[in-house]
Amino acid sequence: MPVGERVLTKKAKANYSIDLGLFLTGLFEVVSGFVLWLILPRGGGQGRLVTEESFLWVRDTWITLHDWVGVAFMVLLIVHLALHWRWVTRMTREFLRRA
Ligand code: HEM
Repeated sequence: MPVGERVLTKKAKANYSIDLGLFLTGLFEVVSGFVLWLILPRGGGQGRLVTEESFLWVRDTWITLHDWVGVAFMVLLIVHLALHWRWVTRMTREFLRRA
């Protein structure tokens, strides 16, 4: 192995994958949230209950994706926090001690 090259441990790969998942699902939630809010608002601005307009997908599909990608985001967030829980508790204790 060339000097200076580090081994990518299983732990580092798992952390990277979870964090990438968090970034992508978080980004999707923001994009789909703005689509639902600004591009395909409820009623479509026409006084109807459900808009028939579509932007890549119909509103109903955006809602389903927004819901389930949101669930995936929260699962990943819980795993991320669990993996770094010791860091969170130590940092909080240190922060309170110095406050
Ligand atoms: C992790 C982030 C988010 C989660 C977990 C989440 C979750 C949800 C859920 C569960 C609903 C209800 C959908 C349904 O009726 O089944 C919803 C609706 C909605 N969300 Fe989000 N959301 C997130 C981020 C955002 C963001 C950043 C925006 C704004 C830019 C946004 C805008 C909306 C809008 C406009 C609706 C209403 C859709 C309607 O009119 O029925 N969301 N969201």
